[in-house]
Amino acid sequence: MTDQLKAELLELAVEAAERAGTFLRDGRPEDLGVAATKTSAVDVVTEMDIASEKLITGFLADRRPDDGFLGEEGASVTGSSGVQWVIDPIDGTVNYLYGRPAWAVSIAARKDGETLVGVVHVPMQGETFRAALGDGAHVNERELRVGTAPTFAQTLLGTGFGYLEERRVRQAEVVGKLIPQVRDIRRGGSAAIDLCDVAYGRLDAYYERGLNPWDFAAGDLIAREAGALVGGRPGDGPSEELTVAAPPGLFELLQGKLEELGAWHD
Ligand code: IPD
Ligand code: CA
Ligand code: CA
Ligand code: CA
Repeated sequence: MTDQLKAELLELAVEAAERAGTFLRDGRPEDLGVAATKTSAVDVVTEMDIASEKLITGFLADRRPDDGFLGEEGASVTGSSGVQWVIDPIDGTVNYLYGRPAWAVSIAARKDGETLVGVVHVPMQGETFRAALGDGAHVNERELRVGTAPTFAQTLLGTGFGYLEERRVRQAEVVGKLIPQVRDIRRGGSAAIDLCDVAYGRLDAYYERGLNPWDFAAGDLIAREAGALVGGRPGDGPSEELTVAAPPGLFELLQGKLEELGAWHD
């Protein structure tokens, strides 16, 4: 793996994410509605999710025609170069639909199953989070480093709920047991931003069960390159994994608590 390849992939990922971000921010229709539902009635997709994925895959395929693609809205190309782009064209679709600012474009490039670069662009915050394997993580010009782990009682914890009804009920029970034990809990609505927030220190820790690779791939590398530990990688399809991201010390503590509370079981 050459530094040149990483540099090229990172530059392309940033440009693709920023182009899509501008398109989504400036082109959001006033009357934006739900185009379709997916795994449940609350798992929605808009015409802009689909258009954003097309823009990103078109931009990248023009420049690297031999690469593979895995995108939430259906992009699925094997490719022959060994590089695979993992794309979430809008992470935080429900926020986008309601005009709430916490949504992002998430793009990662993997080779032989290893994530080489990750970019999470948050247009409404003017922030582009980026990382390349072994080279650290940045937001705009600022280097990201996770802070020292707080005590569990002082932890600001992020989480998310999947779209499956039975799982949500179970997740709410776990949250109910955790809330008296921590500083507070945030449900921001974008897994990619949650992972970047751990890298930044805007959240002390984050956990969620059932992420998909496109929610996770870029934010995972950004959090790890900032010094966080990340466990529970989703595979290539819908996953059952319990993803946990936190600085060392807090990571083990949170994993233990979640185990104790049965967060693994539906
Ligand atoms: C969702 C968001 C949300 C998380 C869900 C994801 P989408 O992605 O990341 O925060 O809780 O698990 O599916 O559908 O907005 O791209
Ligand atoms: Ca979605
Ligand atoms: Ca997502
Ligand atoms: Ca999405």
